[in-house]
Amino acid sequence: MAGPPRERTFDATMSLLREGYGFMGRRQAALGSDSFRTRLMLQDVLCIMGEEAARFFYAPDRFTRKGALPPTTLLSLQDLGSVQRLDGSAHRWRKRLFLQVLSPEAVARLGERFDAEWDARAARWRERGEAVLYPEMGQVLTRAVCAWAGSPLADDEADRRAGEFQAMIEGAGAVGPRNWTGLLRRSRTERWARGQIADARAGTHADTPLAAVAFHRDEAGELLSERTAAVEYLNLLRPTVAVDRFIVFSAMALHAHPEWRERLRGADGASYAAFCQEVRRFYPFFPMVGGRALQPFEWQGRRFGRGAWVLLDTHGTNRDPRAWREPERFDPERFLREEANAYNFCPQGAGEVASGHRCPGEGVAVELMARAVRRLVAMDYQVPPQDLAIDPGRMPAIPRSRFVVRLTC
Ligand code: HEM
Repeated sequence: MAGPPRERTFDATMSLLREGYGFMGRRQAALGSDSFRTRLMLQDVLCIMGEEAARFFYAPDRFTRKGALPPTTLLSLQDLGSVQRLDGSAHRWRKRLFLQVLSPEAVARLGERFDAEWDARAARWRERGEAVLYPEMGQVLTRAVCAWAGSPLADDEADRRAGEFQAMIEGAGAVGPRNWTGLLRRSRTERWARGQIADARAGTHADTPLAAVAFHRDEAGELLSERTAAVEYLNLLRPTVAVDRFIVFSAMALHAHPEWRERLRGADGASYAAFCQEVRRFYPFFPMVGGRALQPFEWQGRRFGRGAWVLLDTHGTNRDPRAWREPERFDPERFLREEANAYNFCPQGAGEVASGHRCPGEGVAVELMARAVRRLVAMDYQVPPQDLAIDPGRMPAIPRSRFVVRLTC
C-alpha cells in the first residue's frame, strides 16, 4: 500500500501562510484522504487529522516537539529550554511545576483577579462609551495574571507589558514584520522576566507562582538557570494573555446567537462551561501541532523513519464530521450531550496533560472565558456595524474589526 497520498508540489510553505486554517482541509478534500504528505520549508511532512490521528500523535513519548514547528512560531511561543522542548522524564518533571502552579484553587484566584481588573477597566469603557475587545481584553488579562503570579504592575508598565505579550502572540503565526516585531518585543519581555526571577531569588520565598518557578529544582536538584526560569515564567503569563482571543470569539458567539445570551442569564456553571467549550471548538486558534518521530512508525500502510515530521490538524479534528454532528454549526449543547473526549476535541492539544504535551492551561482558559461571558451577558451594550469577518489566512485569527462594543449605560 502506498500510504497517504502526496501533494504534487515542490514546496507548500507559501500556500500554508496564505491559506492558514484552510490549508489542511483543502488538501484533504482534493486528495480524498484525511492524511497526506507534502513539503514545508523544503522538508517532507506528513499531515494527519481526526481522533485516531490524535490518539496516535499523543501516545506517550512517540513525538518530540524539538524541530517540529516552523522556527518563527517556536521563537515566539516556546523558547529553547522550555517544557515543550523536553522529552521523557525531564519533561514530566518540569510539567509538574505547571500542574502545581495551575491547581484549581490557584486558577480560581486568578479568576477573581480577572473580575477585579475587568471592573476597574470597565469604568474607562463607560467613560468613553466604547470598548474594542481586542486589545482591551489583553490589558485586563495582563494586569490580572501579573498580579496573580507575583509581579503586580503599575498602570503605565501594564500597558507596555500587555502590548509586548500581544505582539509576541500576534507574531507567532506570521512571517515578516509582524513576526519581527514579536521577536523584538520578546527580548525586552525576557529581560523583564529575568529581573523578576532574580528579584524573587534575592528575596524571601513567597507563596506565588513566580516563587514556584524561581525556586523550582530540576530532577538533579538544581535550580533552573535564570534564563530558563524566565522562559517558564513567561510560559505562564503570555498564554494567559492569549485567552483574549477566546474572549473575543465568545463575544462574537453571543452576538451571532442571541438565544444563548438569553439562556445564559441566570444559568448554572454547566451551561457556561458548555458555551465556552463550543467557542474553543468552533473558532480558529491553533491550526496544528507538530512533532518529530522518536522512533520509526507506520501510518496508513506506509513506514516513516525516526525524525519524520508530522503535523496534527487540530483545527480540522475539532470539526471532523466523523466525531461531531453538524460540525459547522455552533451548538454548545453538544458539550452537554458529551460528544467530546480527550482526542476528538483538541483546541489546546490532546491526550494526557501530566505525561504528554497537552496544554496545562485549559482550566485557565475556560475559567477566564466563563467569567468574561458572565460579565458580557450582564453588560448593556450594542454591537455597532463593523467588519466581523475572520480572515482564514491570518494566524492567529482575529475578527477584522477587533470587536467594538458601544456601552449603553
Ligand atoms: C489561550 C489559549 C491557549 C491555547 C490555544 C493553547 C494552546 C496550546 C497548544 C496547542 C499547546 C501544544 C500542545 C502540543 O505540543 O502537543 C500548548 C502547550 C502549552 N501551553 Fe497552552 N494554550 C493556551 C493557553 C495556555 C495557558 C493559559 C497556559 C498557562 C497558564 C499555557 C501553557 C502552555 C504550556 C506550558 C505548554 C507546553 C506543554 C508541554 O509541552 O508539555 N497555555 N498550548
